[in-house]
Amino acid sequence: MTAGTSGTGSRSGVPVPRLPGRHLPWLGPLPAFRRDPVALLRAARERVGDAFAFPLLGQDVVFVCGPEAHAEVFEADESVLSAREAYRFMAPVFGRGIGYDAASPEEMDAQIAPVRAALGSRNLDAYARVMEAEVRTRLAGLPPEGELDLLDELNRTTVAIATRCLVGEEFHRRMGPELPRLYHELESGIRLAGMLSPRVPLPAFRRRDRAREAITGAMGEVIAERRARRPEAGPAASPPEGDLLAVLLSARTEDGRPLPDRIVTGILTGLIFAGQHTSAVLAAWTGVLLTRHPEYVPLLRAEQAGLWPPGSPLDTRILRRAELLEQCVREAERLHPPLILLMRKALRDTVIQGRRVPAGSLVMISPAVAHRMPEVFRDPDRFDPSRYAEGRAEHRRPHALIGFGGGRHRCIGLAFAYLQVKTVWSVLLRELDLWPAQDVHAPDYSTFVPAPAAPCTVRYRKRSAGPS
Ligand code: HEM
Repeated sequence: MTAGTSGTGSRSGVPVPRLPGRHLPWLGPLPAFRRDPVALLRAARERVGDAFAFPLLGQDVVFVCGPEAHAEVFEADESVLSAREAYRFMAPVFGRGIGYDAASPEEMDAQIAPVRAALGSRNLDAYARVMEAEVRTRLAGLPPEGELDLLDELNRTTVAIATRCLVGEEFHRRMGPELPRLYHELESGIRLAGMLSPRVPLPAFRRRDRAREAITGAMGEVIAERRARRPEAGPAASPPEGDLLAVLLSARTEDGRPLPDRIVTGILTGLIFAGQHTSAVLAAWTGVLLTRHPEYVPLLRAEQAGLWPPGSPLDTRILRRAELLEQCVREAERLHPPLILLMRKALRDTVIQGRRVPAGSLVMISPAVAHRMPEVFRDPDRFDPSRYAEGRAEHRRPHALIGFGGGRHRCIGLAFAYLQVKTVWSVLLRELDLWPAQDVHAPDYSTFVPAPAAPCTVRYRKRSAGPS
């Protein structure tokens, strides 16, 4: 029986073993978990197995691991394992009644539906043009050679891309220089303490709320201007601006009315939150891995030379055919997934892989732990893009590679994110030679999306500057 089919809930199944060791009452293994949750969960899995329970900040956590367990969690009905209840602590970022805080799962699906369509293949070519232009703009501002902070550069690049593709040019022009800081403050407002009580008066939460006000306020002005320009725009109107805001402005509720501004700004803020920094982090890890494995760079350039004539624009057809590049990005997703913990709240007693999960538990999955299972990925700590090649294709096993989740809540921005990271690295590999400037790049677990710890410095030289 799967968690999703347990119907009214089930009391069968054997108990989940507790994580041994002496933990603090109520807090559980919080200090070790905050320091390095992946190390803690990996070590625990080696000792106890693929399912175990522990207390954390007053919650009963049930951790499960492995493709079959992932399938049960991802496919479970919302009334049994709820993503909305697990992620409601994000409401201060999206706004009341939006995303995971929507009145019902159906309401959340309805909010996401126009976005899903707009992020689909029809619009990706237009997005690819914006992405290439933004990478080139940042490159143009760099001296011919030197050192750069890869994460900082890529964060600025993805801020500009997300802003232009999702909210549009006017918002980008109006808010541009302030956005990296504002998006950062929005993202930094998600912490362990926020899971407990997102409204306690921590300074980070006050900054988060001020950042949200500034962002949604400026979006509101842009929306008012657009509505004033095209008051007649209805569902059939094709958005001339080509950004997601235009799509949301022409979307209609079930009873035929435009979406309220509050919902439009909430959806856009939520999407920037979900997709901007995560993409920067995936792009940064891709770069870190390539500087550590320079033997792949000539192979990637050879692939590119056969697909992308110099001087012509990048498009989705070229990027789709860049298979080795895709495999390298996939290795970054596997070795360093930007989201390391995915959660569901058990609303009823249920069973996962024969283990009893009591109602009220917080069910946890970790892409970072799952991606290093030797039973699933051969020699899992090794950077090996060939594991995805035909004949081996380790990622094709359902729910093995879960950097973008799976099942009913699978990421709707996957194609956009891959397009972005592949565009960034297509241009950077063509225009720059890169070398590591430091020995180690460890993940920084103090943030919600673990990036390479700062500073993430690499040395570079523009290839147009001639051979070094
Ligand atoms: C490298 C970049 C990204 C990563 C690693 C990522 C990862 C994920 C993961 C793991 C989930 C599933 C969460 C769960 O099951 O608990 C998810 C859901 C989601 N992602 Fe992404 N994401 C990325 C980029 C984006 C982008 C670019 C967008 C939109 C512009 C986006 C929008 C969403 C939304 C709306 C959901 C919720 C879907 C639902 O619950 O039905 N993501 N993402």
